[in-house]
Amino acid sequence: MKTHSIAVIAGDGIGPEVTREAMKVLDTAGQVFGFKTQRSVLPYGTEHYLKTKEILPDAAFEELGGHDAIFLGAIGDPRVPVGLIEYGIIARMRFGLDLYVNLRPIKLFDESLCPLKDKTPADIDMVIVRENTEDAYSGAHGFTHKGLRTEVATQTMVYTREGVERVIRYAFELARTRPRKQLTLIDKANAVRAQDLWTRTFADLAAQYPDIKTDHAYIDAACMWMVKNPEWFDVAVTTNLFGDIITDLGAMVQGGMGIAASGNLHPGRVSLFEPIHGSAPKYAGKNVACPVAAIMAVAMMLDYLGHKDAAAAVEGVIAELLRSKRLKGVGTGVHPTNEVGDLVVAHLREAALAR
Ligand code: IPM
Ligand code: MG
Repeated sequence: MKTHSIAVIAGDGIGPEVTREAMKVLDTAGQVFGFKTQRSVLPYGTEHYLKTKEILPDAAFEELGGHDAIFLGAIGDPRVPVGLIEYGIIARMRFGLDLYVNLRPIKLFDESLCPLKDKTPADIDMVIVRENTEDAYSGAHGFTHKGLRTEVATQTMVYTREGVERVIRYAFELARTRPRKQLTLIDKANAVRAQDLWTRTFADLAAQYPDIKTDHAYIDAACMWMVKNPEWFDVAVTTNLFGDIITDLGAMVQGGMGIAASGNLHPGRVSLFEPIHGSAPKYAGKNVACPVAAIMAVAMMLDYLGHKDAAAAVEGVIAELLRSKRLKGVGTGVHPTNEVGDLVVAHLREAALAR
């Protein structure tokens, strides 16, 4: 029986609760589909930092690289300086492990979840491929004359030909696996002229993928289309910052932050899976957070680890529970957190018996 080693960082706020439910589902998937996971549970996050002043020690970071995958619950806490833990843990893993693709599927499972009028599951089924190592996130920033009237603050958007090309290539390959075979480039090259590198790289690669229908939208228009005509999107590729923003919009279109999951990937290497939502400190420990996003992140992780059947089964159970209204939604407080995990586990077992 195959054993996968998984590092688990439950993190801050609601992270531990949703991670607990996600791990229940992972264990059940293993029992049903015949694999095991060996998990190293790592304590990093704000609580650990406040106690020890340790964010993500080098030795722990080195060890992460030796796992098959990493699962992260949520990070962020108002008790510590803005960005400290985010950069110290999430960004460190994204950059340090070179997880250059942030894969964010947006799929509507039931019409009732969608805030847009008259949109059905047939209209909303897309994947945003967010570049994950460059752009305004690359860390190149500074302040001069700090605190004075003359203060200047800068942050540089960094794009490299290699960084842009590899993520666009990934998106073309992904588009090839989907029935519509369509790829949209989302940028703001009319104002951020450095993004002309994206325009040119996209055009160069498009010539190598004549079977893929290509399209382009500026980020402001893309936000508008995402609400007005989400059915126009199949796969879309974009920069780190625009990808961050548009996937929160996408999460709402598919039902809310309680459902949206992501994979931070370096194909062929250790990759990181997490719900898109944050740590929601005000709901921490109350058993009200929706763990569906974390469970969907487990489905993405299973897919990545090669358990396509298990991944499809988990997604299928979530879809069915939402369609049948056994799960009445993915909002905070709609169901107790632990009951959602238990329900998914029970249905996963049932689905397996029916096979
Ligand atoms: C996300 C988050 C992070 C990001 C934060 C926590 C730094 O919003 O994964 O979308 O901006 O990438
Ligand atoms: Mg975000």
